[in-house]
Amino acid sequence: MSKTDHHDRRQPQPYRPYRWPKEPDGHSGGIWFGGDYNPDQWPEQVWAEDVALMKRAGVTMVTLGIFSWARLEPSDGVWDFGWLDRVVALLGEAGIAVDMASATATAPYWLYQAHPEVLPVEADGTLVHPGTRQSWRPTSPVFRRYALRLCRVMGEHFSDNSTVVAWHVGNEYGWNNATDYSQDALKAFQGWCRRRYGSIEELNQAWGNDFWSQRLQNFDQVPLPEHAGVRDAFINPALRLDFRRFCSDALMDFFCAERDQLQELTPDKPLTTNFMVSTDQCVLDYERWSHQVDFVANDHYFAHGPGHLDELLCSDSLVDAYAQGHPWCLMEHSTSAVNWRIFNASKRQGELIRDALAHVAMGADAVNFFQWRQSAFGAEAFHSAMVPHAGPNSAIYAQVANLGGILRRLSQSGLAGTQLEPSSIALLFDADCQWSMADSTLPDCSIDHWQQVYIWYQALLDAGYRADVVPLKGQWERYDVVVLPSLILLDQDQADRLRDYVSGGGRLVVDFASGIMDDHMHVGLGGYPAVLRDLTGIASQEMIALGTSDQGGGSILVSEGIEGNIWVNEPLSIEDSVRVLARYQGSRSYDIDMAGKPAVTIHGYGQGRVLYLGTGFTKESLVSVINRIFPPDFFTGAAGRGLHNGRDGDPRLVHLIRSGPQGRYHFYFNRGSTVVRDVSTMGETLVVQRATPYSGGGLSGNRYTIGVHGVVVTRQ
Ligand code: GLA
Repeated sequence: MSKTDHHDRRQPQPYRPYRWPKEPDGHSGGIWFGGDYNPDQWPEQVWAEDVALMKRAGVTMVTLGIFSWARLEPSDGVWDFGWLDRVVALLGEAGIAVDMASATATAPYWLYQAHPEVLPVEADGTLVHPGTRQSWRPTSPVFRRYALRLCRVMGEHFSDNSTVVAWHVGNEYGWNNATDYSQDALKAFQGWCRRRYGSIEELNQAWGNDFWSQRLQNFDQVPLPEHAGVRDAFINPALRLDFRRFCSDALMDFFCAERDQLQELTPDKPLTTNFMVSTDQCVLDYERWSHQVDFVANDHYFAHGPGHLDELLCSDSLVDAYAQGHPWCLMEHSTSAVNWRIFNASKRQGELIRDALAHVAMGADAVNFFQWRQSAFGAEAFHSAMVPHAGPNSAIYAQVANLGGILRRLSQSGLAGTQLEPSSIALLFDADCQWSMADSTLPDCSIDHWQQVYIWYQALLDAGYRADVVPLKGQWERYDVVVLPSLILLDQDQADRLRDYVSGGGRLVVDFASGIMDDHMHVGLGGYPAVLRDLTGIASQEMIALGTSDQGGGSILVSEGIEGNIWVNEPLSIEDSVRVLARYQGSRSYDIDMAGKPAVTIHGYGQGRVLYLGTGFTKESLVSVINRIFPPDFFTGAAGRGLHNGRDGDPRLVHLIRSGPQGRYHFYFNRGSTVVRDVSTMGETLVVQRATPYSGGGLSGNRYTIGVHGVVVTRQ
């Protein structure tokens, strides 16, 4: 293959030097605390009260101007910075720093009216009208001209302003324009394909265009995966996957242009943009994006229910990996309910502070909320905020102020700048794999890579282990155990990396849906998972979908109380050196001719071992697989290095450590639904929330009873 972008995409990309916002007086020290501030929604008299309340709550930084383009440029080329300057001055006098937005997230109506050609188009050809946010196509040269002009004016205006300590470029790129099917997008996609493949023949091969007469003669024929009738799901999967890659790259390219314009004018101010990593969405390929920011920032909104904290930790773990061990910024989370789910649960007592501290434990050195003052009008009037509609005499503001005090104390103790200590188990995540499973034509279309990562993350916690979520392209060789949770796409280079890892003594878990296809979604032949077959020592010939009882199917028994789901891989061949750890049993196994066939196996390879799971598992079953079927020493190194969650391995407790030259900071969280008694903590106690001394007291070597949603932080 020629040296095209296709080749380059697989090579490690350089990172920008890490730069973190410094306090206006040049000091860098504390944990930033604040949120999105939208003073343009309020009369000017309210601003002074805002700043006074911010001071009272310990706010140190706010993000300004995210959606202010229409106020800053009321008509084409006419600027009004007066109001923003007054807000910045008020904040500056109070010692509150500003993370200034490029203000380009949403354009004013006049721009859309004058240039409807910037509006995105949906897959079915429908024009996206203005009215919400991000009603623009990243590939529009017209929109880029206007946005970069705004960046230039913003950069010039604030270049000497020391209150502005960082740039917040755009906002949640891809929230409303993750995909665009416009003519601009088509042209850009054709160029992207040309760069990626070099020749149309390479592309024809990569996309398997001999299937259904899709062979192309030149790059001008390259289509977008537009609406193709009721059989939409059957659009060429390789084309669709490349389109998702292109869309993420197109937005990133737009971000980089804005970033570079601002940086040229304000080289001393670090730049970032807020990612959207949570286990119900991972919109863009943030591994690639993470190379383009000065520091990583993420927005996280909680998932209500018993997995609330687990989901937060799982998402943050991936964010921390993107941040490469540097502190990162929690750019948004909520004080309580959001208003964009069907059921918008409020946070329960203690969850506001617990969540914020969980983000800190996972590596955040900035804790911000959306938003400062709850809107009185507009689409987000019922979204919680730091100052709710009821005003400062409210439970939420009191908790916000309480949190401000806690963060100040942690800052004074020197926590900022320390790093989350890694675990020894890596769960690999890859955006390509996630995209390839959306609209899938797989044996079972309910499978979702990111969900499988989360199932593993939670199951390991329940079994007493904490894992790290690491990008497939990241550095996972240093882990004792690497798990592939339905990592369906693996190309030869990646498989070779895994081979080297296991040869050198690594322990690998390959699940039922891993390594089936390459990065163009071509299936590996000769028995699944072709690319890993020598590692697993077992090859499969068919995937037998299990379905649910509602669908006339049902799970399969692997061992007493352990049920497989999604699909079962029917073995084709097994090497003699493979040891079978569990076999299918029960009536369903007879029904599909799998009775007695291997379900879980282990295979020595080089110095290492490969554990293979031939079927999917629910979280509950996976816990039992780990506890009862995995060889007892499989996680030995992991447990030995202190990863077991707390005392006697009580899985209700999560113990996270941040460390640096300043010391080791221990965070003990109760992730369960009952009180955890007699938790021994290490060092001097810094924070006690919803916890009480178990016995004794004093300031070191304490034991605590940690209540539901409770947390204790100590320093050693
Ligand atoms: C996103 C946006 C914010 C706000 C919040 C509400 O994160 O960036 O502007 O709309 O959602 O949850």
